Amino acid sequence: MPDAATQTPILAPFPAPTPAPPPSRLVDPHGREITYLRLSVTDRCDFRCVYCMDPDQRFAQRDQTLTSAELLAVTRVFVGLGVRKVRLTGGEPLVRPDLIELLHALRALPGLEELVLTTNGSQLAARAHDLRAAGVRRINISLDSLRPERFRALTRNGNLGQVLTGIDTALAAGFERIKLNTLILGERNGDEILDLVRFALAKGINLSFIEEMPLGEIDRRATDFYSSERIRALISPHFPLVPTTETTGGPARYYRIPGSPTRIGFISPHSHNFCADCNRVRVTAEGQLLLCLGQEDALDLRALLRRHPGADEPLRAAIIAAMRMKPAGHRFEIGVPAVVGRRMNLTGG
Ligand code: GTP
Ligand code: 5AD
Ligand code: SF4
Repeated sequence: MPDAATQTPILAPFPAPTPAPPPSRLVDPHGREITYLRLSVTDRCDFRCVYCMDPDQRFAQRDQTLTSAELLAVTRVFVGLGVRKVRLTGGEPLVRPDLIELLHALRALPGLEELVLTTNGSQLAARAHDLRAAGVRRINISLDSLRPERFRALTRNGNLGQVLTGIDTALAAGFERIKLNTLILGERNGDEILDLVRFALAKGINLSFIEEMPLGEIDRRATDFYSSERIRALISPHFPLVPTTETTGGPARYYRIPGSPTRIGFISPHSHNFCADCNRVRVTAEGQLLLCLGQEDALDLRALLRRHPGADEPLRAAIIAAMRMKPAGHRFEIGVPAVVGRRMNLTGG
């Protein structure tokens, strides 16, 4: 029996519990870890793609969109919480005048492994080298048609020649990887699938076909849904598609064409739901944290940033708490009106 002197008095206060270390990773209630942030740096764009915007689209007031300092603060907090990949989107990120300075600042964040960008390609001829020099390693370029008139009709004002020159400039600038994104809009460009594959092969770059998602009340939706399966069946007799498990951390499932560096990807939110593997969240140009592209759950980071300028902690706590809202998956359905009112230009996909 211990002597009285060494006995712990019964009424001694319990030692204060060691506080749990603050989480340094973002894990949602479905067990998915968030390591990928898609950051929209502007809702503006020089195109007006028919599936993305209205012809007379109105944009946010400038003071309603995040400043570079705010974008940097948000990203710093996410990277501190385990995000390793940041993709800048828009609208069109290159219409943001201070984009290159922003990229240099983001690139310096310790822990950020991949800084990438999705663009419509219209300004690449002038800016691709600056992007590469600012530390962007991979870029994704949207390209829905190789026919100038059709390209103009789909984008409402885009110039195909300018985008093709941009792609060549990007090739010369030495990005580690370039991927084209193509949205097949039924009969409007379904007859170009093979031409687009040939184009990607000739350039030695990747190409992903995306199934259209119903965001916002856009007047024109694909009349004839082209599933990824249908596209794959169309390509296979001409180019053998060998499945590969390679991934870029995005939602595409890839196939290789033997003898070529080109990979053909399929982003199939309808026919092959990838929500179970979701690793990403989005921040809109107006500073809304979106937990899912296909749901409305959101948190106003701009309000927090402006209420606590220069302080990371409130932001950090709110982001950690917001993970509880991350839904299991989207609710897009073919032929059903959009469940999400927001337009794609707020998130860049
Ligand atoms: P990589 O880093 O090259 O894999 O790019 P990524 O596919 O993640 O990015 P990109 O900007 O090329 O995205 C292409 C398209 O995939 C987007 O425009 C969206 O249409 C779609 N997409 C990306 N993430 C999601 C997602 O979480 N849910 C849904 N439904 N679609 C997504
Ligand atoms: N559904 C699927 N993808 C879309 N994109 C834009 N709007 C939609 C939509 N409604 C894609 C573009 C571009 C990427 C940034 O987002 O094709 O490649
Ligand atoms: Fe611009 Fe991209 Fe929307 Fe087209 S899809 S209008 S390029 S933001």
